[in-house]
Amino acid sequence: MSARSQNAVYLTSYPAGLPSAGDFEVRTNDIPDLKSGEILMRTIWMSVDPYMRGRMRPDVKSYIPPFSLDAPLDGGAVSEVVESKNEGFKPGDYVVAFQGGWKDYWISNGDGLTKVDAGIAPLSAYLGVLGMPGLTAWAGLTQILEPKPGETVFVSGAAGAVGSLVCQLAKIKGCKVIASAGSTEKCDWLENECGVDVALNYHDCKNAGELTAALGKAAPDGINCYFENVGGMHLEAALNSIAFGARIALCGMISVYNAKEPAAGPPNLAFLIARSAKMQGFIVSIYLHLAQQFAMEVAPLLAQGKIRFRESVYDGLDEAPKAFIGLFHGENFGKAVIRVGPDRL
Ligand SMILES: NC(=O)c1ccc[n+]([C@@H]2O[C@H](COP(=O)([O-])OP(=O)(O)OC[C@H]3O[C@@H](n4cnc5c(N)ncnc54)[C@H](OP(=O)(O)O)[C@@H]3O)[C@@H](O)[C@H]2O)c1
Repeated sequence: MSARSQNAVYLTSYPAGLPSAGDFEVRTNDIPDLKSGEILMRTIWMSVDPYMRGRMRPDVKSYIPPFSLDAPLDGGAVSEVVESKNEGFKPGDYVVAFQGGWKDYWISNGDGLTKVDAGIAPLSAYLGVLGMPGLTAWAGLTQILEPKPGETVFVSGAAGAVGSLVCQLAKIKGCKVIASAGSTEKCDWLENECGVDVALNYHDCKNAGELTAALGKAAPDGINCYFENVGGMHLEAALNSIAFGARIALCGMISVYNAKEPAAGPPNLAFLIARSAKMQGFIVSIYLHLAQQFAMEVAPLLAQGKIRFRESVYDGLDEAPKAFIGLFHGENFGKAVIRVGPDRL
């Protein structure tokens, strides 16, 4: 054994309802010496994402296995190679991977690592606008909604990592964009910085009827595309408001992720029939083969300042549970990231 140690966040109990700080614990483990082909990584930035809540339900079969209570949590991270016995990687390389999160050091065999360049964008952007949430936004918009210039696109969770990029890409495609977010500050940013036509603070609406009325005012001819991040009253209001031939991309339903019982579906699903509308769910991993096309489209827009992004930065591994729990209270503004390493890259 080497003298080095790893700090890692463990899940100590599966949350019932909203996760709490007591469901998490930081533990210290020894780091074994590297074997041939292995790399020692230091996590610089880690991501907390809403989908992780689904991995905290051991009884629900999903597209990704549940977290174990006996192993560190895992998730997306940008890491630096510290030591390498793998000829593909050398100390100082930066990589992004769907691994490395929730811990400060980790060992990789090189699988699933993508080298990233700190000169193109801040390294943390590879967890947000240039990373998994960015690909999700781009793929849901371009592969499912396929908006045409002049059409109206409604986006919920619009000030978040995924939603904020959907809004801006839809504007670039010549659409009218209606956004929904949870505070005046978020709505102001969407309208003033991201070019959204109308941003609605959904806390001003007590129910789907009131949100439908607000949507009717913002889009009198109905909405052609709905990018769904939230579920609940947002989906019901969107279904009330769809125009003939509308498309709905089901990306996420964060409002039900902490439900103790399965949430009821929208009562107005039949509107899809009369309005010849289509609704399709997706997981980003089915579009990984398009990651390069996504990067080639979005990275230049970012470099040209045509796309804005925000981050809520938390400092240190100890803050990771707080950052994760904050996702369900709207505490993050843009992508929630945790600076694990000491670097300010
Ligand atoms: N299908 C896929 O492959 C895929 C991939 C990535 C993400 N997603 C989904 O996309 C959605 C957005 O993810 P993200 O990473 O961009 O997260 P995010 O929007 O950056 O963060 C979550 C946001 O959701 C909003 N929220 C939380 N609880 C809510 C509630 N009860 N009602 C309405 N809004 C609520 C909060 O913003 P407010 O202040 O506006 O309430 C919060 O800031 C999530 O549903 C996620 O699961 C899906």
